[in-house]
Amino acid sequence: MNSKRITSNNIIKSMTLKEKIGQMTQLAPNLYNQHSEAVVYGALRNLNLDEKKIYTAGSILGIGSPTEMINLQKQYLKNSTHQVPLVFMADVIHGYKTIFPVPIALASSFNVDVARTAARISAVEAYTSGIHVVFSPMCDLTRDPRWGRVVEGFGEDVYLTGEMSKAMVEGYTNYGKLGKDAVACCIKHFAGYGAAEGGRDYNTVDMSRLSLFRDYLPAYKKALDGGADFIMTSFNTLDGIPSTINSFLLKDVLRDKWGSKAITIADYDALNQVINHGAAESQEEAALKGIEAGLDIEMASSVYMNKLESWVEKNVVSEEKINQVVSRLIDFKIKLGLFENPYSGADKEREELVSLSEEHLKMSKDTALESVVLLENNGVLPLKKDSKIALIGPFTKTRNFIGPWAWKGKHDIHSSLEEVFEESIIVVSDKNRFEDLTEEEISLIRQADVCLMALGEEDYLSGEAHSRSDISLPNNQEEFYKSIKKISKAVIPLIFGGRPLLLNGLKNADAMMMCWFLGSQSSEAIHDLIFGIKNPSGKLPMSFPRNVGQIPVYYNHFNTGRPYYEGQVEMYVSKYLDVKNTPLYPFGYGLSYSKFEYSNLKVSKERITDKDELIVSVIVSNKSDVLGGEAVQLYIRDYVSNVVRPVQELKSIKKIWLDANESKVVEFTLNIENLSYYNYQGNLTCESGKFAVMVGTSSVNTLNKEFHLVVE
Ligand code: BGC
Repeated sequence: MNSKRITSNNIIKSMTLKEKIGQMTQLAPNLYNQHSEAVVYGALRNLNLDEKKIYTAGSILGIGSPTEMINLQKQYLKNSTHQVPLVFMADVIHGYKTIFPVPIALASSFNVDVARTAARISAVEAYTSGIHVVFSPMCDLTRDPRWGRVVEGFGEDVYLTGEMSKAMVEGYTNYGKLGKDAVACCIKHFAGYGAAEGGRDYNTVDMSRLSLFRDYLPAYKKALDGGADFIMTSFNTLDGIPSTINSFLLKDVLRDKWGSKAITIADYDALNQVINHGAAESQEEAALKGIEAGLDIEMASSVYMNKLESWVEKNVVSEEKINQVVSRLIDFKIKLGLFENPYSGADKEREELVSLSEEHLKMSKDTALESVVLLENNGVLPLKKDSKIALIGPFTKTRNFIGPWAWKGKHDIHSSLEEVFEESIIVVSDKNRFEDLTEEEISLIRQADVCLMALGEEDYLSGEAHSRSDISLPNNQEEFYKSIKKISKAVIPLIFGGRPLLLNGLKNADAMMMCWFLGSQSSEAIHDLIFGIKNPSGKLPMSFPRNVGQIPVYYNHFNTGRPYYEGQVEMYVSKYLDVKNTPLYPFGYGLSYSKFEYSNLKVSKERITDKDELIVSVIVSNKSDVLGGEAVQLYIRDYVSNVVRPVQELKSIKKIWLDANESKVVEFTLNIENLSYYNYQGNLTCESGKFAVMVGTSSVNTLNKEFHLVVE
């Protein structure tokens, strides 16, 4: 086709109604080729589609390789009655072949550049296989560590989740410059999916409009502002209506309030599942509710393909409405340049060249180094070069640290902990129980200067459909730790997993690191941190509870009418009888080998108006002789408001690096937007009054100042 004449209008005019509706369906490649190399994570159902219909589909979910993409596109264009190429979309969550830390770990870097880089490199690699759109980032706020998908998100804070999501979109899309080495984004899951009751996946979500607008929606909005082209609906209901057919979400919020033109797509089979929800009696009804609510594409179901046409024939749905949706989809294909080159990106040679390249692996290691959170350290870390190490626990010999949702990542090509610590190890064992250790192993553990215990959850214990009601360390690893603690000179648990875990029993460890799943360079990064070749700088993006009964426990809660203060003896206050209110490890917490001190917190004015900016400055000093990274965190509190505000709200982070004994002035600028809140209507509002600004090393360790805002 001559590029000048390619407009969605012209293309749509040449298409039949059936062909247009086909564009609104996304199918798995397995329907075209039984032997597809692609991995599909939902159950493949019989979709009741004939050959003719599958050659009208608009996009493909997952593709195994560049060759497979080229072949499928060719096969499709040969068999389809129109010449509108397929778009290929896939779950690239934290890397394509070079695997980066899982998103909850990326969030722990408290550094958006780290997330952006991870996305950038993932895009460069994914692009070579002909993937045009990635289903990432997941912008769902998560306050319940029982939910398996906390591993895919950025934790409990609205600001951090939003900033990380936006940075990833910028990285994938190369700041919107789609084309070579960039992919478009489908952000997910709209909306509130992270608030599934009891942390059980796919469960009901029931929340106030206030919490929805204030806590849950801003991250999706930021990601859209960052340039996401697609938005995926979530599996849950909201206000009793499945998100997939929820016109409040898809129209009132997305289109009207936010003015977004992003293409909406159902999650896997979710349009069909509205029948299970009890929101439609049949696929016919689901199709009607989907189109009326503003759902553009269905994924892995055939509700639109099989049932939408009849509504147009009956004049219940206008063809014009279908045209509007399809023009959005075709415009996107034009933007990708697919009509000029339907195979764009797919390039086997380049895939081999760039994937897992030295440069990409180095980037993966750099991100891993910033993603580890040092939870405890009595001075045992960093280890001296000549330390004799006992390395024990279930994660010592495995090479699989890539974590869930890394279907193109290989589990066995990276290094194990045993391999990277080889020169210092005097005993290694991957046994899971003290009773299974031999006399000789026990004796060597006693002799070692330190025992590194690689513990935690296997990758299959988190992720989609992998919720747990008990988030303690599996297989009684806590008991194992306690036995080792009795015999070893110093014990350092290295904790792997996709969620905050219960670590009370390990709090007396000599040192402890939360390693999450760090990706392709996990072992190398841990090695460098343990020996102090690098300095840990990660901070927790989610509170670690003391027990499951405390959940949800998050730092930005309300004060309540009967707040409890540490040490208070009053009975009728908001507390438990059997556990503290505070988490074991709070949001924003993480240690370093450097010793950072904060001083001289200043605000530029004691009274500002809504037109002013407030400059907040603090001196951060590294009072140690090692270079270190520190995520300087700024929180605010609005003391009095018509709608009560949380006791603390994170508003800014500056990650800085300080040389030994170096000091820096760190400056933040606050404006009316930072001080405002979203009300029930989803509008930013602010009232005059007293505020606190808190700057520090974690949510519980800050210097505080007050100022007044006057809204004129
Ligand atoms: C997940 C999505 C994913 C989709 C496609 C669904 O089951 O919820 O996050 O993008 O499958 O694989």
